[in-house]
Amino acid sequence: MAFRSLDGVAVAGRRVLLRADLNVPMHDGKVSDITRLERLCPTIRELSAKGARVIVLSHFDRPKGKRVRSMSLEPVATALGGVLGRKVRFAEDCIGLPAQQAVEAMSDGDVAVLENTRFYPGEEANDPGFAADLARLGDLYVNDAFSAAHRAHASTEGVAHLLPSYAGRLMQAELEALASALTTPERPVAAVVGGSKVSSKLDLLGNLVDRVNLLVIGGAMANTFLAAQGHDVGRSLQEADLHATARDILARAQAAGCEVMLPIDAVVAAALRPGVETHTVPVAKVPADQMILDVGPQTVALLQARLVGLRTLVWNGPLGAFETPPFDSSTLALAYAVAAATDTGGLRSVAGGGDTVAALRQAGVLDRLTYVSAAGGAFLEWLEGKTLPGVAALEG
Ligand code: 3PG
Repeated sequence: MAFRSLDGVAVAGRRVLLRADLNVPMHDGKVSDITRLERLCPTIRELSAKGARVIVLSHFDRPKGKRVRSMSLEPVATALGGVLGRKVRFAEDCIGLPAQQAVEAMSDGDVAVLENTRFYPGEEANDPGFAADLARLGDLYVNDAFSAAHRAHASTEGVAHLLPSYAGRLMQAELEALASALTTPERPVAAVVGGSKVSSKLDLLGNLVDRVNLLVIGGAMANTFLAAQGHDVGRSLQEADLHATARDILARAQAAGCEVMLPIDAVVAAALRPGVETHTVPVAKVPADQMILDVGPQTVALLQARLVGLRTLVWNGPLGAFETPPFDSSTLALAYAVAAATDTGGLRSVAGGGDTVAALRQAGVLDRLTYVSAAGGAFLEWLEGKTLPGVAALEG
């Protein structure tokens, strides 16, 4: 992969515009999950230690081009200072005089966060004038926001063409991990795709069948495939209008030599609620008044057995309705099995997406996979095989 890294880049005494993703979960005005901040630290520490003036740019939430007080980055800047264990300045604007003055007040090694770039409509419009206003504040541009790289916005794409631009260490780690999982994987390689809708993952499934040896489909989207094969899935969530599409994906997989694994048994109940009475049935025997809410134990056992001998696994999406116990059981079992297979050194495991990360955290195995991406939409678009504009701007 031909992106420019920070290796050998002279940053001492220079103003480095660092595009980060500070779009972190907040609760009652405080940051409630610092994962994205922790992952940003290596790049900030490296740049600061080398004497750069680190000017952090980010969006937060979706203020739609207006200044929205509750979407200020100020509390996030404070939290970033806490995670870094050092003072982080905050500028109440990302362009114009307040930003310029904040940057001029910096010394070598200092870190400052500028206000939410999405307070300006020029950010999402990738307006050249707005990108130039941002570029004026720096000498170099470093993008460490893989999770925002699917957006062609001024701070993720436009500004990269106006300054010497590089991938930060987090961006680099993401790109290397993802490339080793799907672009140049050690084979056999499998993908596990779950979640509720085939419609939201059509491009992703289409891309994966050409790249992996084994495609495991779980979650409610498996119901659509089962129904497309003629199974009666009772009251299960499914997309009846996508049966032909599902059959087409299966035919494409077969033509590409990709084995598709669908559930063979299921945990069913009359409703999705905690503590509801459940039954385990073969997928051919789903009662008409019940719904499939998780894959069954035989499917899990089959999946665990298939992990043996696999060299690479990519995982996106839970296998069942994991937020509601006991329908978390197969997803947790897979998480433990993937962690164990990774521990033994045989498997390279890469996972991503909000629900998947939450499931891995719930299972307590977040640190045991080879790489877990903190990106949501960007991870999905990458799985779809799309070129991410924020990454493309760093290539060459
Ligand atoms: C994310 O949280 O996934 C990124 O920051 C992108 O946010 P967006 O979907 O609002 O562009």
